[in-house]
Amino acid sequence: MPKGRVGKLVGLTGNSPAPPRTLTGINEFDRVTGGGLVPGTGVLIGGDPGIGKSTLLLQAMAALSGKGGHVIYVSGEEAIDQVRLRAERLGVAGRDVMLLAETNVSDILATIRESAPVPTVVVIDSIQTLWSPVIGAAPGTVSQLRAGSEALIRFAKQTGASVLLVGHVTKDGQIAGPKVIEHMVDTVLYFEGDRGHQFRILRAVKNRFGPTDEIGVFEMSDRGLQEVDNPSRLLMGVRDTSTPGTAVFAGMEGSRPLLMEVQALVSQSSLGTPRRAVVGWDSNRLAMIVAVLETRAGIAIGAHDIYLNVAGGVRVREPGADLAVAAALVSSLCAIALPFDAVFFGEIALSGAVRPIGQTEQRLKEAAKLGLNRAVIAAGAETPCVTGVDLKLMDDLSALAAWITS
Ligand SMILES: Nc1ncnc2c1ncn2[C@@H]1O[C@H](COP(=O)(O)OP(=O)(O)O)[C@@H](O)[C@H]1O
Ligand SMILES: [Mg+2]
Repeated sequence: MPKGRVGKLVGLTGNSPAPPRTLTGINEFDRVTGGGLVPGTGVLIGGDPGIGKSTLLLQAMAALSGKGGHVIYVSGEEAIDQVRLRAERLGVAGRDVMLLAETNVSDILATIRESAPVPTVVVIDSIQTLWSPVIGAAPGTVSQLRAGSEALIRFAKQTGASVLLVGHVTKDGQIAGPKVIEHMVDTVLYFEGDRGHQFRILRAVKNRFGPTDEIGVFEMSDRGLQEVDNPSRLLMGVRDTSTPGTAVFAGMEGSRPLLMEVQALVSQSSLGTPRRAVVGWDSNRLAMIVAVLETRAGIAIGAHDIYLNVAGGVRVREPGADLAVAAALVSSLCAIALPFDAVFFGEIALSGAVRPIGQTEQRLKEAAKLGLNRAVIAAGAETPCVTGVDLKLMDDLSALAAWITS
């Protein structure tokens, strides 16, 4: 092995300025990138086919070009005409976005290197179409995907452009998915949502330059994606009047509170093994809560069919939703509607105890903002006082069941 050069060791403290940022002007997008794109970095945007990745990026890039950014949009999937048609539909056809329909990585690199000035952002839609003749593998394979993405990320580092790589999430594994390049990029965003619903959530899952729990909320319309700056209001807007089995959960998505409606339907089962169907929540977590209700609170629910749904196509990840789920289950089982103006949050332990969760004050404030003035939460938390919200403190699930049925 050749003798290496001696590097210079430096201390942890020093003068490192914050990186500059490129804002697109679409707030929900800028929030998720951690306050704007960082020049010279690679960003992966993954999501199911048809979820709206191309739409989002075309809108964001059009907005950016309107602020003086120099944008190149490379489409490997759609012909120029198709991209133009979409731009027209989105009302951004007049914007200064340069298009290139190309899949050959060497040709893409040659083109973007030639571009003067250096592009602020290059979008590659999608990495699955990238293809390099020097790699002896078919397009869409892991080696093609890696080599192409690597070359483009190198371009970003060398020139200071931000490179946005679009990747389709593939279910069958026939074609390589975005997972295989997650480690190469600085930021990974996923665009999620239920295709049957209008909501789309952009979520950061990795970010070397910002927090990873931020989300951006959009609504899909025929004019493209609209920003939703008050998602709770939209979710609450679709509520019908109190029916047994619905409970509002005050959740947190990143730094912002989000109210969601949990719906449960508990019905007599005619099957030996009762049915369980869960949409928008973790089915293992449901099994646990059913077991805890049965064992610790003496509620005979285990032999029933149970359907659980989170309204609006949202997916809840917080264990803090346990209490809302338990309340919805008991309410449906007993056919007693919960108070229309109540929110629920708290984690349930295997002992049946209700445990406090973080950011209580923010959750309560969001509830108050939307006119929900009762909160059923864990006892034992240092409970902040929020004007307009009455607190009902619960020690355990037996207390919750007693309160609902009283
Ligand atoms: N002509 C159209 N009119 C209204 N909505 C459309 C039209 N074309 C596409 N869409 C919407 O945009 C979505 C496709 O978004 P797109 O950005 O192409 O997804 P992706 O790039 O993630 O595959 C479709 O699922 C549909 O909801
Ligand atoms: Mg697309």
